[in-house]
Amino acid sequence: MTTQTALRTAHTAELAPADLAAARALMDLAFDGDFSDEDWDHGLGGLHALVHDADGELLAHGSVVQRRVLHNGRSLRVGYVEAVATRPDRQRQGLGAQVMSALEGIVERAYDLGVLSPSEEGEKLYLAHGWRTWPGLVGTLGPEGVEEMPDEDAPMLYGADLDPAHPLLIDWRDGDVF
Ligand SMILES: CC(C)(COP(=O)(O)OP(=O)(O)OC[C@H]1O[C@@H](n2cnc3c(N)ncnc32)[C@H](O)[C@@H]1OP(=O)(O)O)[C@@H](O)C(=O)NCCC(=O)NCCS
Repeated sequence: MTTQTALRTAHTAELAPADLAAARALMDLAFDGDFSDEDWDHGLGGLHALVHDADGELLAHGSVVQRRVLHNGRSLRVGYVEAVATRPDRQRQGLGAQVMSALEGIVERAYDLGVLSPSEEGEKLYLAHGWRTWPGLVGTLGPEGVEEMPDEDAPMLYGADLDPAHPLLIDWRDGDVF
């Protein structure tokens, strides 16, 4: 087995249908079937980081899409990280870290802060990369106005200087809001 890998970043619009199909299939594999079409939709329309092997097989993926957060009277431009996964047989080899470093660079250069909703498996990796669990309240600006979300798992933030005394209200979307 070759260990040579290559990382590429590309906007959704630049990816061929076969690239997108491979990334969608990787999600089913890595999340063991627990990844919906809505979850996939949440990771489209932004920049993807993809790691391929020398044969062009997709090994790892993540994407960052733009969202807005209302916080303490400000509307912040958020790079929201979605669809992070490594092919199960290539996990714990640093590929997830490569994907995250690429996405973090994009967040640093293009957004006010990064936000993601971690899986149990991903949380340690994100902590090691400087992501921090949001200690304050969360909610959303939904179709009916502001909705508090007291039962939501805390999101993780990157490069943020927010005041936990004020809630973090994220924009609305179909499916899981965070
Ligand atoms: C979470 C996930 C993306 C991590 O991907 P990965 O490619 O295994 O990530 P890395 O290899 O960079 O790091 C994972 C661990 O392996 C360790 N590691 C990295 N290179 C290593 C190596 N050569 N040898 C041994 N361990 C290594 C890292 O230190 C890290 O350890 P930690 O979990 O104790 O912090 C992957 O487990 C996955 O796809 N999970 C299922 C889907 C999922 O939950 N995605 C996250 C959604 S938020």
